[in-house]
Amino acid sequence: MERSGSAPVVESNDIRRQGCYISHDLRPHYLGLGKESLEMSRIVSSLGLLAVLALPVAAAAQTPTFTKDIAPIFQNKCEACHRPDSIAPMSLVTFEESRPWARSIKSRVATRQMPPWHIDKTIGIQEFENDRSLTDKEIDTIVKWVDAGAPKGDPKDMPPAKQWPNEQGWNYAKQFGQTEPDLVIKSLPWTQKAGANDAWWKPVVETGLTEPRWVRAIEIRPGSVKGRKITHHAIARLQQVETDDLASNPLDANGNPLPGTFMEWAVGKQGEMMRPNSGKLMLPGSKIVWDVHYSNGGEDITDHVELGIYFYPKGQEPKFRQVLHLMGGTNGSGSGGNALGSAVDIPPNTVKATVGYFLLKENGRVESYQPHMHLRGKAMAMEAILPNGQIQVLSHVSDFNFNWHNTYVYKETAAPLLPKGTLIKVTAWHDNTAANKANPDPNVWVGYGDRTVDEMAHAWVNVTYMNDADYRAAVEERRKALNLTTNNASQQQ
Ligand code: HEC
Repeated sequence: MERSGSAPVVESNDIRRQGCYISHDLRPHYLGLGKESLEMSRIVSSLGLLAVLALPVAAAAQTPTFTKDIAPIFQNKCEACHRPDSIAPMSLVTFEESRPWARSIKSRVATRQMPPWHIDKTIGIQEFENDRSLTDKEIDTIVKWVDAGAPKGDPKDMPPAKQWPNEQGWNYAKQFGQTEPDLVIKSLPWTQKAGANDAWWKPVVETGLTEPRWVRAIEIRPGSVKGRKITHHAIARLQQVETDDLASNPLDANGNPLPGTFMEWAVGKQGEMMRPNSGKLMLPGSKIVWDVHYSNGGEDITDHVELGIYFYPKGQEPKFRQVLHLMGGTNGSGSGGNALGSAVDIPPNTVKATVGYFLLKENGRVESYQPHMHLRGKAMAMEAILPNGQIQVLSHVSDFNFNWHNTYVYKETAAPLLPKGTLIKVTAWHDNTAANKANPDPNVWVGYGDRTVDEMAHAWVNVTYMNDADYRAAVEERRKALNLTTNNASQQQ
């Protein structure tokens, strides 16, 4: 059974309502109970009991085969990356291609390293727009298949091959009645030599905007079909000088605003459509700071990455502004905006936690979470400390992997609504010991810095701000959607 943690819906100074909501949904998190307690609560609920009883019976009935049980899972959850001419090192399209990898597949899926999705499933919100993880049942099927010797099965059971587009289209253009985005910004070309080590390419490109524009959708694509073989993932950061206090971010060592993630892309991602009536604001003089992770494509390939931006028509201003904030530990030198971070300072041979806080100066809906650390990154938690003192875990990445800079985008019906005055607490754990396989040297002291051998300890978090009236309306709407009628104050009096 999948347990879905829902978002907290809270209003300041109304402890009773919050108490009701939490007992409905978030109690295990709120009470700070661990995984075992969660298991217990799952088992005592009648639904959970049914699921526990039903599983072994169904599973004993038959051994999973590739053609019948595995191919559909691979088509849906793996082929985007694991097919010829895509980013992963091997194709998982046919039985013959997949069979040699059976053991590795079992270990990667059982530990939830593949598909890359590192949110802890036992705590916090679990409803995401872009969830590409496997269900418990899918993992169970794959593990059983490998344990049974990875049999092929009846060829007649094989589903038709999944059709993948082999031309370079823009995903959203048609939807807006266009053939191209309104603005396309290209990174500079990079040549990835056959067999070369992974490389991170960070050119800076001006957007060329001469007036503020509201963004309603963004997407990223490699510059060519060939480029998909080497473009492991790409991050486009937006750097601009903010005049609005709510939107400002800390400054870097040179006094420039730290560029915030505008969009992160890996194969399989369509793009990002803003929520209705909300948008991101791009300012004149803004720049795109690229961070493109290239990996070996088996041949020399030269490519660039393209960022496609769709604007609201001029004169049409969305009601809500989405602002991307840096939350968490910083470089310790002047943390502008409202980040209250401690400095990143990690002794040798140590697991170290770095904590940072961010004050919500206005009511907001937290839209997404992207932990950012480097090679020693181990885990990162984001909690909300409400003005009434309650603490709730929003999301926890328990198995951070520097290879994958996932942005976890909450479903609109699950994105936490938080009152102004909430403190968002970001805790980053770094493992600077030899136990961390990615650690290049456990015997050195590590501080804040841009190189992958230095560290960072923050999350990029998108917030949609709202005034009191809009916030109340959003909370009411959420209550209705979640059927929380018993939380209605009038019924409790
Ligand atoms: C978003 C892209 C993506 C998706 C989706 C994805 N993979 Fe991967 N996978 C990769 C990349 C890239 C690598 C190699 C580098 C790495 O591990 O980051 C990889 C590595 C692997 C490996 C390790 C191969 C080795 O060298 O031993 C296995 C096994 C694997 N994937 C299985 C799967 C399975 C099974 C699925 C689906 C259930 C899946 N992957 C989904 C991109 C992906």
